[in-house]
Amino acid sequence: DKAGYKHFMAKEIAEQPTVLQGALAHYINHDGTAITLPEPGLDFAKIERFSMVACGTAFYACLVAKYWFEQLAGIPVEVDVASEFRYREPPVTPGTVALFVSQSGETADTLAALRYMEGKAAKIVSVVNVPESSIARESDLPLPILAGTEIGVASTKAFTCQLTTLAILALQAAQARGRITDAELADKLANLRALPGVLNLALAVESKASELSRKLAEARDILFLGRGAMYPLALEGALKLKEISYIHAEAYASGELKHGPIALVDKHVPVIVMAPRDALFDKTVSNMQEVMARGGKVLLITDQKGAAEAGDGVWNTILMPEIDPFLAPILYAVPAQLLAYHTAIAKGTDVDQPRNLAKSVTVE
Ligand code: M6R
Repeated sequence: DKAGYKHFMAKEIAEQPTVLQGALAHYINHDGTAITLPEPGLDFAKIERFSMVACGTAFYACLVAKYWFEQLAGIPVEVDVASEFRYREPPVTPGTVALFVSQSGETADTLAALRYMEGKAAKIVSVVNVPESSIARESDLPLPILAGTEIGVASTKAFTCQLTTLAILALQAAQARGRITDAELADKLANLRALPGVLNLALAVESKASELSRKLAEARDILFLGRGAMYPLALEGALKLKEISYIHAEAYASGELKHGPIALVDKHVPVIVMAPRDALFDKTVSNMQEVMARGGKVLLITDQKGAAEAGDGVWNTILMPEIDPFLAPILYAVPAQLLAYHTAIAKGTDVDQPRNLAKSVTVE
C-alpha cells in the first residue's frame, strides 16, 4: 500500500522520521540516558577489530560506521564488499568481531561471508531489517533496524535506520572503552533523539530538489564529492541516482579529485558536493573552486554556515539544518535520496522497479 504516495520509494523516504523514532526508542531508554542493546551484548574492551561486510547501500553504511567506530571508540575497522571478502578468504584474528549489514538478510554473498566467519570470529553480529532472515538467524547477536518493510528497490529508510543502529553501537563501544564522558554521551544521545525532527525539516527541501532535478536529468554524467564520513554519502548518492535514473554517476573522496576525475569536469558535468560546515569544510571549498575554475556546475549540499563560507560561483545550494557532525551522514542521506527520486521522475523511469535490478540479490 503506497499510502497515497506515487511510489513506494517516495513513501519510504517520507517515513524516515517515524521509523527512526521507533529504532531510537528500541535502543535508547525512555529518559534518553542509556543505551539498551540486547543481552548478552559485546565485550567491547576485548574487541581488537571489527570486520564489516555488506553489499551496495549496506556496504556504504559500513563505510560510515568505520569512521564512527574508529573515531569514537578507537576500534580499528575493516570494511569489505561481500563478493570480494568471501573469495579472498582473509585470515581472521581471534579478537575480530564480524559485523554484517543487510536489509533483506538474504543477500547471497553476505550470507556466504557470514558462514566463512563462523568458528573464526569471536562473535557474529548482524544489523538487519528482516528479523527472521537467514543472516539474522545465523548471527550470535542480530540487531534489528526496525525500518519496516522496504519495497522500493532503491534502499532509503533501511539505510538511515542501519546508520542509526550503527551509531548507537559505536556510542556504546565508546562508553564501554572509556573513550567518552557521561556528559558527552548524554549530549550525543540527545542529538540522536532529536534526529527525527531534524529529518522532518530536511524533507522540506523536496520542492527545491525536484526543481534542480529537472536540470540534473539532462546530464550524461554526474560527480558526487564528499570528505570524511560524507564520502560514503557521496557514494550512496551516486548509487541511488544510477539505480533509478540510469544517469552515469560516480563518487570520489574530495581529495581524490585532482588525482584523476577532474579531467572529466566541464560545463556539462554537474558536481554534487555533500559538505556540512565541519572541520574539513575549508578543504572542500578549495576542491569546489577547482571544479568551478573548469566550468563545472557545483550543487552544494550544506548548512547555512557552509553556504555563507562557500562564497560565490556555486550553481545552486540545498540547505540542510545544522547538525552535530557525527550525525550528518544520516541527515544528508535525505537530499541524496530526493535528488535521485526526482531525477528519475523527470526522466520517466520506473522508480520502484528499475531495470535489471532485484530487491534482494539471493544468487551470486
Ligand atoms: O538486502 P541487502 O541490504 O543485503 O542488499 C544489499 C544491496 O543489494 C542493496 O543495498 C542494493 O545496493 C540497493 N538496491 C541499493 O539501493
